Parts: sequence; C-alpha cells; structure tokens
Amino acid sequence: MTDSLELKGSVAIVTGAARGQGRSHALAMARQGATIIAVDVPQKMASVDYALGTQADLDETVRLVEATGAVCIPEAADVRDAAAVNGVVERAIERFGRIDILLANAGISGMGPLEQVSDVEWEEMVGTNLTGVFHCLRAVIPTMREQRFGRIVVTSSMGGRMGIPNLAHYNATKWGVIGMAKSLALEVATVGITVNVVCPCTVATPMVLRDEMYKLFAPDLEDPDQKAVLDRFRRVNPIPEPWLQAEDVTRAVMYFVNDPGTTTGEVLEIGLGSSARLH
Ligand SMILES: NC(=O)c1ccc[n+]([C@@H]2O[C@H](COP(=O)([O-])OP(=O)(O)OC[C@H]3O[C@@H](n4cnc5c(N)ncnc54)[C@H](O)[C@@H]3O)[C@@H](O)[C@H]2O)c1
Repeated sequence: MTDSLELKGSVAIVTGAARGQGRSHALAMARQGATIIAVDVPQKMASVDYALGTQADLDETVRLVEATGAVCIPEAADVRDAAAVNGVVERAIERFGRIDILLANAGISGMGPLEQVSDVEWEEMVGTNLTGVFHCLRAVIPTMREQRFGRIVVTSSMGGRMGIPNLAHYNATKWGVIGMAKSLALEVATVGITVNVVCPCTVATPMVLRDEMYKLFAPDLEDPDQKAVLDRFRRVNPIPEPWLQAEDVTRAVMYFVNDPGTTTGEVLEIGLGSSARLH
C-alpha cells in the first residue's frame, strides 16, 4: 500500500474505528496524510454476545494513527443514535471545515435461525448495520455537496450477495446497505461525490474469531476451537485461505477512496474467490 501523501488536507470519518477493519482503514488513510475522526464505543447491546469496541481500543487506534504523524480525533458515539452521529459531523466541520471521506464500517453480527431472532436482536442489528449507515450518510451529504467532493465507502459483506443459513437478519442489513448506497450514488453523481460498497468474506477480526462462529462452521464438533475449524474455513473458499486480513479489505477501500471520481455505485467483492460462484 502506498504511503504517499495523496490524502494530505483530507478529513475522513471512520465508524467502527476502535479495532478490526475500521482501525486498519484509518491507519491506511492516515499514512496518506488524512486527518481521522475515529468513531466507536457503542452503548451496550443486549443481543450481542461478544465484546464490542471499548474506549481503550479507540485510544489505541488514536495512538497508532498519531504514530503515523496524522491527527486523530476519537469520538465515542453509537451510530444508532442520529443526534450523536450529527454531533460528530458538526464537530468535525467546526474544527476542520470539511469532510472528504466517510467509511461507514461499524457493524455487529449475530447468528441463529430466523424463527428464533428476537425483536431486540432484529432492532439492534437493523439499528446498527442499516439505520446506523443511513444516519452517517445523511449527516455528511450536505457538506460534501457544498464542497462538490466526497468519497463514501460502505462496508457490506459477502452476506449481502447471497443467502446464508442462520444469518438472515445480518444478511438483510448487508443487502440493504447495497441498495441504499447505489441509490445515493445516483442522487449525488453530478456533484463530485462517489458512493461505493465493499463486500468482504470472512475477515480475521474479533467479530468472527470466537467460539460461537466456530460452532457455526463445525456444528458436529463438541467444542470447536480456531485450530479445529481452520481447515473447514479453507474448504469454504475457492482460494484455499481460511479468511481475509483486515488489510486485504483496506486495499479495496483505498481503491475507492483514491479514485478520481469515475467509479460510483460499485460493489467490490473481496471473497477469496467465492464471487466466481455467484451472479
Ligand atoms: N469480520 C468479518 O468476517 C466480516 C465480513 C464481512 C463484513 N464485515 C463487516 O465489516 C465491518 C467491520 O467489522 P470487523 O470485522 O472489523 O469487526 P469488529 O467487531 O472488530 O469491528 C466492528 C467495530 O464496530 C463497532 N460498532 C459496532 N456497533 C456500533 C455502533 N452501533 N456504533 C458505533 N460503533 C459500533 C464495534 O464496537 C467494533 O469496534 C462490519 O460492518 C461487519 O459487519 C465483517
């Protein structure tokens, strides 16, 4: 990945920046000279059975970004809360006068057959992965429109390209953001704003490197650990790797961030070859 200062003077908001893919994306943009507004640390969610990003995780992202020489502003905000998202955007504009890039990356996962998805689980899933993305897109568009410039990348999933048993509620949100991004892309195509989507397959982040996910992949094993399911993950993908690293997704995100403005409404699948079986 280039460390040139192509983004010097740019201001980028990244949601879900405390760790995982969001942190990796923030670091890549910082290395190119962007100022980073790092958003994370949601309110507790009753249906999420793994730990989400903490203030300590977010502070670590700030430390890593600052080590590149870039400015990083932490924002503890929950994307489900429209007022909190608007506040992040307002403070960014007050402080820096512009917003060039939005990476709507924050998300949660959960699994289980559709008939067992509770109302709370549905609301938290849709609230974060779909409404949360909507809040972020809506909040930045007026400024980007005024600037006649903006680069927006939404993180969907390969789950937004197919059906997967036990992920119906997650996949509903990931299909949903693709429709939202494509429609918005058409609304703002004449004013210098691009809106694109990345669809990663499994990425080695705290969202999936956990026992519940291993059980999903190896339901026949008593207590599967990472080692036990590595081979099964490998067998799922045409390219025989178990999963992507966050940096693999970052390369795709940076393609859209650095695009001169001719690519919009696109969906880039980073699927370890699984795209070859679709469409
Ligand atoms: N890990 C995978 O296999 C995978 C695959 C495809 C797509 N994705 C998507 O990639 C994105 C990033 O996930 P990741 O793999 O880095 O997982 P992660 O859990 O490590 O990171 C997600 C971050 O989003 C934050 N977040 C969650 N809900 C939030 C909310 N309501 N408000 C603010 N922040 C919130 C979390 O605290 C966490 O730090 C998500 O949208 C996820 O659905 C992940």
